[in-house]
Amino acid sequence: MQKNDSEKLYKKYIAIKENNKNKWSKEFFKKIFLDKKTFFFFHKKNSRGYLIARKILDEFEILSLATNKNYFRKGIASELIDLLIDEAKEIGVKKIFLEVATLNVAAISLYTKMGFIIIGKRNGYYIKNGKKQDAYNMVININRKI
Ligand SMILES: CC(C)(COP(=O)(O)OP(=O)(O)OC[C@H]1O[C@@H](n2cnc3c(N)ncnc32)[C@H](O)[C@@H]1OP(=O)(O)O)[C@@H](O)C(=O)NCCC(=O)NCCS
Repeated sequence: MQKNDSEKLYKKYIAIKENNKNKWSKEFFKKIFLDKKTFFFFHKKNSRGYLIARKILDEFEILSLATNKNYFRKGIASELIDLLIDEAKEIGVKKIFLEVATLNVAAISLYTKMGFIIIGKRNGYYIKNGKKQDAYNMVININRKI
C-alpha cells in the first residue's frame, strides 16, 4: 500500500465508521498512517471494515477495528483478524495484543472466538462521554508457518 494517500484512506475509514461517534481526526489518522510501524487492512469490499495494527519488535497491537454497521455479523471482522494473523505468521510476529472495553460484549466475543484470551484489566482505561471505562488486555500467541 502506498503511504502517500492518507486522505483517500481516511475517506474509506470514515465511510466504515459512519455514525460511530468514536472517530479519529484526520490529523491523528495521518500521523498513524505515516508511521512505518502501522499496518492497515481494509476488507476486500472496501467500505465494510478495517483493522489497524502497530508492529513493535515481534508483537502486533491492534489499534482499531470496526465493521460498518450495515454489515455486522457477516464475518467481516473475523476475516480482518485472520488477515492480521496471516501477516504475523509471514513476518515472524509472535503475539497480538489489544485492549477492549469490558462493556464491549460484541468485541470480546469476537476476540474470544478468534482465540484471544484475557490476560489483564486496566481500570479507567477509556474515557467515554466523560466517564471512565475499564478495559481488558487480550492476547493471542501466533504459531509460525513451518
Ligand atoms: C466488534 C465488531 C468489530 C464485530 O464485527 P463483525 O464484522 O460484526 O464481526 P463478525 O461477523 O466477524 O463476528 C464474529 C463473531 O464475533 C461475535 N460477535 C460479533 N458481534 C457480536 C454481538 N453484537 N454480540 C455478541 N457476539 C458478537 C460472535 O461470536 C460472532 O460470531 P457469530 O456471528 O458466528 O455468532 C463490530 O461490532 C464493530 O465494528 N463494533 C464497533 C467498533 C468496535 O467495538 N471495535 C472493537 C474495538 S476493540
